[in-house]
Amino acid sequence: MANVAVIGAQWGDEGKGKVVDWLASRADIVVRFQGGHNAGHTLVVGEQTYKLSLLPSGLVRGKLGVIGNGVVVDPEALLAEIDRVRAQGLQVTPETLRIAENAILILPLHGALDRAREAARGEQKIGTTGRGIGPAYEDKVARRAIRVCDLAEPETLAEKLDDLLLHHNTLLKGLGADTFEKQALLDRLLELAPRVLPFAEPVWERLDEARRAGRRILFEGAQAVMLDVDHGTYPYVTSSNTVAATAAAGSGVGPAAVGFVLGIAKAYCTRVGAGPFPTELHDGVGTLLGDRGHEFGTVTGRRRRCGWFDAALVRQAVKVGGIQGLALTKLDVLDGLAELQVGVGYRIGGETFRRLPAGMRAQAAAEPIYETLEGWSGSTRGARSWADLPAQAIKYVRRIEELVEAPVTLLSTSPERDDTILVRDPFED
Ligand code: GDP
Ligand code: IMO
Ligand code: MG
Repeated sequence: MANVAVIGAQWGDEGKGKVVDWLASRADIVVRFQGGHNAGHTLVVGEQTYKLSLLPSGLVRGKLGVIGNGVVVDPEALLAEIDRVRAQGLQVTPETLRIAENAILILPLHGALDRAREAARGEQKIGTTGRGIGPAYEDKVARRAIRVCDLAEPETLAEKLDDLLLHHNTLLKGLGADTFEKQALLDRLLELAPRVLPFAEPVWERLDEARRAGRRILFEGAQAVMLDVDHGTYPYVTSSNTVAATAAAGSGVGPAAVGFVLGIAKAYCTRVGAGPFPTELHDGVGTLLGDRGHEFGTVTGRRRRCGWFDAALVRQAVKVGGIQGLALTKLDVLDGLAELQVGVGYRIGGETFRRLPAGMRAQAAAEPIYETLEGWSGSTRGARSWADLPAQAIKYVRRIEELVEAPVTLLSTSPERDDTILVRDPFED
């Protein structure tokens, strides 16, 4: 198979950035197809650490990066990120980055609405990144969004802003938040236009040509299956589809072009933001995982909630996400723990389930059913071959494969790019 799609199999931050960067050496083009700068992907290459939110992780390898039409693009965030990574020595030019002309723009009013709504929800808040992702996708399906191509048409921008402000200012006023003024928004967009437009093109055409020339495409997912707006723990989800099928619609290729679907999962589990998390740990082990795994949000800086690996959840992600192989990351964080628990199902009001039911109350009430596995005393940190792993760590990986019904095709044993064990090359599948 020529192409590979990488998606998260839990609630995000599984190490997609590291895996995409590693796989990018085998690819020609890296494509983002959904989400926006709510994503935070950390790549460690020698002494350098790159933190990417909107830019495809392949840029670090000097590969062509494409931002597909399914992505919501905040032009201010985009330009700031380009400046930031340029200062780290990366080349980001219209030769190395292309942005779909039909991608949706995030404006300051989207972030303002996102934050005002979260504040109004109080205890019920979703814990969004506050970056306007949800409101921007709402505008897209409501057919009032401003797109990248509109930056080339000042009259279109002016018309669309009237429509947008009618909607948003009404809502913002109702929420007691500051409203926006058309002229200031228009002036700023016209100021940004000449910096953004050189990157814009119909990326579907480039991807079609690349495919016909036998180029390898790596689709880089953001967020994860359990944050998918359909398949995740709704309403505690993001506002896009994060499953691999979205790679096609979100970049303008057919479903057959997506190729091998690689799901990324941590050897334990984390979540930022609110919502159900059956295997969450509130004890010292949870704190230990958080400290060892440096579980702080790249975007929010918030401490991530930590818990045991939930095989029932990942099995579900494998099924709905179309995951054919799993990359298991952060195995090293479990080093030295005498005993490990793995969630294999749920108990809800006297009934047992092998999957997480869809109802909000059922999800909140789900108690994990655990299987206990023996830990290992040796170190997996930095291992680059199976031979370097303690026997019990291999057993843990094997048991996970059985439970989630997918083979582990890649293992990651530290944040560093090359501390990776390849079991099966997804591009050769
Ligand atoms: P993403 O959003 O899925 O790209 O993941 P993030 O970058 O937000 O979070 C993953 C964090 O774990 C980053 O800080 C990575 O550097 C780090 N990381 C990735 N793989 C490993 C690993 O195998 N072991 C350890 N200890 N850290 C890892
Ligand atoms: P990466 O790509 C983890 C979470 C937020 C919140 C919910 C909705 O780094 O894995 P949003 O701002 O998208 O409307 O917030 O989704 N969330 C993430 N959690 N990793 C991410 O991205 C996330 N992107 C959004 O915390 O719970
Ligand atoms: Mg992240």
